Amino acid sequence: MTSALIDTYDRVATDLRVSLTDRCNLRCTYCMPEEGLQWLAKPDLLTDDEIVRMVRIAVTELGVREVRFTGGEPLLRPGLVGIVERCAALLPRPRLSLTTNGIGLRRTAAALRDAGLDRVNVSLDTLRPEVFHTLTRRDRHHDVIAGLDAAAAAGLTPVKINTVLMRGVNDDEAPDLLRWALDHGYELRFIEQMPLDAQHGWQRTDMVTAEEILTTLSARFSLTPESEGSRGSAPAERWLVDGGPARVGVIASVTRPFCRACDRTRLTADGQVRNCLFAREESDLRGALRSGAADAEVAALWRTAMWGKKAGSGLDDPAFLQPERPMSAIGG
Ligand code: GTP
Ligand code: 5AD
Ligand code: SF4
Repeated sequence: MTSALIDTYDRVATDLRVSLTDRCNLRCTYCMPEEGLQWLAKPDLLTDDEIVRMVRIAVTELGVREVRFTGGEPLLRPGLVGIVERCAALLPRPRLSLTTNGIGLRRTAAALRDAGLDRVNVSLDTLRPEVFHTLTRRDRHHDVIAGLDAAAAAGLTPVKINTVLMRGVNDDEAPDLLRWALDHGYELRFIEQMPLDAQHGWQRTDMVTAEEILTTLSARFSLTPESEGSRGSAPAERWLVDGGPARVGVIASVTRPFCRACDRTRLTADGQVRNCLFAREESDLRGALRSGAADAEVAALWRTAMWGKKAGSGLDDPAFLQPERPMSAIGG
């Protein structure tokens, strides 16, 4: 029997985000330093079987309906296609999606689709290869564009694009990015930069805000808010572009948080459950798995972890402290 993941604010977590690796083949400046990070050791990572078991427990015992695979960069996980295939065979079948930087998607999009993946979100911050290099410290712009094409061709739709704007680097590109995304049939979302970088370099005053983004876009497009109630628990607020049906999203986790509607629970690549992106505590489910706990016991631990979920991210609290793990090790 399922018994949902609820918290003391009556939110129900039905959306599981699974980080498959903390490693990445880019070095986005808003995420991690040039030299990379101290990666998790292989024995600490959940195995493919352990991941599938955790997803099965989430789906069959805890009422999870959506599973998103993230990283680091999830395409770096060798067993990804098999994990997707096994998760797609679960009953009830969860919806399956992937958040990726797009590198390698050209080769794997069709196999992922065949395995049962429903859709992908791809990060792309710029249309200019040289700016891509400045932002990610790698020359892989063409791989990302090819990955996007392949995702659309494989039917991993709607293909969404995530864009973080950095002041003085790519913040002049918002209208061009939107035009390009609309022309290609991708749904673009601009994301406010969050204090989740490994270097702890985030400054609120540097952040390009949702309001600024909307003002910039409004100079070139006519934007009307999507109808009331269409957002649900999605972090992106959406606007119809030039009357629709084209849309643009803004994920304003800092200035317009959606915490009250949050329906997420997270599993890190080393098997820790987090009840919030910004949580400072984690619950060690890998320990339970590896010491022989039954599914019902793991599920009970997961419920307890979610019950402790705080009302919000705490970003506006003067005493706010970043979580110890950076975003690349939590999963976006
Ligand atoms: P869909 O709209 O269903 O495709 O999912 P999504 O937008 O949640 O997925 P994605 O993985 O593409 O995440 C995009 C961005 O949303 C992330 O970079 C974060 O900035 C933000 N985000 C995702 N989950 C959370 C969350 O739990 N809390 C906050 N504050 N932001 C989140
Ligand atoms: N703030 C906002 N978004 C971030 N991402 C990575 N780090 C940050 C940050 N500090 C984005 C990536 C990706 C998504 C999962 O999260 O660009 O699109
Ligand atoms: Fe990699 Fe994503 Fe971090 Fe960029 S933001 S370095 S793509 S994990």
